[in-house]
Amino acid sequence: MAQVIVITNQKGGVGKTTTTVNLSGYLAREGMKVLLIDLDPQGNSTSGLGIDKNLVEKSMYDVLIREVPIQEIRLETSTDRLHLAPASMVLAAAEVELVSHLAREHRLKQSIEKIKHEYDYIIIDCPPSLGILTVNGLVGSDYILIPVQTEFYALEGLSQLLHTVQRIRVSLNPKLSLLGVLLTMYNKNTLLSRQVEEEVKKHFPNKVFETIIPRNIRLAEAPSYGKVIYQYDRFGKGANAYKSLAKEVHKKCKP
Ligand SMILES: Nc1ncnc2c1ncn2[C@@H]1O[C@H](COP(=O)(O)OP(=O)(O)O)[C@@H](O)[C@H]1O
Ligand SMILES: [Mg+2]
Repeated sequence: MAQVIVITNQKGGVGKTTTTVNLSGYLAREGMKVLLIDLDPQGNSTSGLGIDKNLVEKSMYDVLIREVPIQEIRLETSTDRLHLAPASMVLAAAEVELVSHLAREHRLKQSIEKIKHEYDYIIIDCPPSLGILTVNGLVGSDYILIPVQTEFYALEGLSQLLHTVQRIRVSLNPKLSLLGVLLTMYNKNTLLSRQVEEEVKKHFPNKVFETIIPRNIRLAEAPSYGKVIYQYDRFGKGANAYKSLAKEVHKKCKP
């Protein structure tokens, strides 16, 4: 049965998509069967895996609104054992349309239940908001991974996110637990990065991943070639960091 991990932070540009794609890629490379679910209408995970989101015929929109099984929309990728449930532009409409559906917060969970046995990991990329798509991600998951960019205002918005997580635990998904907080775009030469690291560790004792993702231009370039980082710069420090994150995640998820 798959472990389901949602990667979320309602702030944009903190490294959610980069983490989703590369963590999924390395878990698959380590021999796991992985499904990446792209819940962001911007479809950056979809295009980052080399799939043109404008050519996607069926997407997570169909899963959430028309109850099409994920088996019917998933695609293979250039990485063995890594499947993608793609996003498309119309997914933006799901945010509005879901509001009038029954059990709207459970749509994703119900779809995931039917394919959980086929994978070791299901990793979900979220849009930069706490709307109904993200709520579906949180309700459908076992774990939450929060990327935090090591910049000013890193902690801004996190209390709101944790409040939402708590509310979902109480009413919709009691087993949702915080897998960890991931420091991203870290620059070890700046005082600011080190200060933010201290601050985040103070707020989340024992919950910050040992692996820290450095600022690394290769990580930003890889998606424009539709490549996971190991296909683009296998021995670089960005690649090493995500490889080590995959090991850490795998260790933490083991029962
Ligand atoms: N570790 C990193 N080093 C350098 N650039 C990064 C790194 N992580 C992400 N980026 C770049 O920063 C931008 C935002 O990252 P992204 O993963 O898309 O964030 P989000 O999904 O949270 O909006 C993208 O252009 C991405 O390529
Ligand atoms: Mg993104």
